[in-house]
Amino acid sequence: MQTFSTIDSMRTWCRQQSLEQRTIGLVPTMGALHDGHLFLVEAAKQRCDHCVTSIFVNPTQFAAHEDLDLYPRPLDEDLAKLERAGVEAVFLPSAEEMYPQQEGQTATTVQPSSVALPLEGVHRPEHFVGVATVVLKLFQAAPSDFAFFGRKDFQQLCVIEHMVRDLNLPTRIVPCEIVREPDGLAMSSRNRYLSEGERERALCLSRSLNKVEHAFREGERDTKRLESILAAHLSDCDSVDYAVVVDRESLLPMPQVMQNAVALIAARIGSTRLIDNRELQVD
Ligand code: PAJ
Repeated sequence: MQTFSTIDSMRTWCRQQSLEQRTIGLVPTMGALHDGHLFLVEAAKQRCDHCVTSIFVNPTQFAAHEDLDLYPRPLDEDLAKLERAGVEAVFLPSAEEMYPQQEGQTATTVQPSSVALPLEGVHRPEHFVGVATVVLKLFQAAPSDFAFFGRKDFQQLCVIEHMVRDLNLPTRIVPCEIVREPDGLAMSSRNRYLSEGERERALCLSRSLNKVEHAFREGERDTKRLESILAAHLSDCDSVDYAVVVDRESLLPMPQVMQNAVALIAARIGSTRLIDNRELQVD
C-alpha cells in the first residue's frame, strides 16, 4: 500500500493508473475508520481495479463550536485497516496544501444546490459548502472513475450527486448502504464518544426508524402521523434537531407520501450528535 501526502504525487499516481487503463475508485473519509468505511472500500475494490482512500479531517466543514479538535485521528490504526482491506493507495493531504493561506482574501468555494438548505443546512449552515468544496478538491487531487459514498449521510450524498451533475464532473458517484452494529446502531466515527449508557440510549434512533418503516409498510402515508411515530420513540435523546419524513429527491416536506420518501433524524445523546435515516420506497 502506498501513501501520498502531496496533491501532485497523488495526481501523478492516478494519472499513471489511467494511462495503464486501470480504473480507480475513490473513498473519501475523515479517518477513525470503522466497518462502514471498509464497506465502501470493499465496494470500490469490487467495481474498480484500484481503490484510493483519502483521510482528511476537513476543517471547513466544522463550525467553530463543533468537534474539529476532538475529532479522533487514530492514523496508525486506520492505515493498518486499509492495508488489511487491500487498498492500493492512501491520500493524506495536509491542511496547509488543501487550504493555502491567502492574506486578506477569501477562498473559492462550491455553492451547493438547494438540497443543502433544509435539515443539516439549518443546523449546520456552512457545513455543506465545506463538504462540497473539499470533495471537489479531492476529486481534483485524486482523479477517479468512481467515488463511493455512504447513504448514512443521506443529505451529503444528495449534495454531492447534485454537484457532480451541475458541474459536469467526470467522476461517477456510487451510493452504498448503511452499515449497522448488530443491534442496529448505524456505525459512525462519533459513536466512540458515547458512554455505555449513552450507547444504549442511542439505539432509539434506529428503533424509531424501524417503527416508521413498519407503519409505512402497513400503508400509513400521512407524513404528520409518520413523523409523530418517529418522535414518540426518540424520548431517550437529550435533544432532537429534526425527525422528519421528506421527499427523497428534494428533501422537502410533503403532506402525503406519494412517491419515494426518506425518514431522517439528527439528535443528541449526551453531547454527541448522531444522524440516521431510512428510505421509504413506494412500490
Ligand atoms: P466520514 O464521516 O469519515 O465518512 C466517510 C464516508 O463513509 C461517507 O461517504 C459516509 O457516508 C460513509 N459512512 C460513514 N458511516 C457509514 C455507515 N455506517 N455505513 C455506510 N457508510 C458510512 O462523510 C465524511 O467523512 C466527510 O464529510 C467527507 C465526505 C470525507 C468530506 O470531508
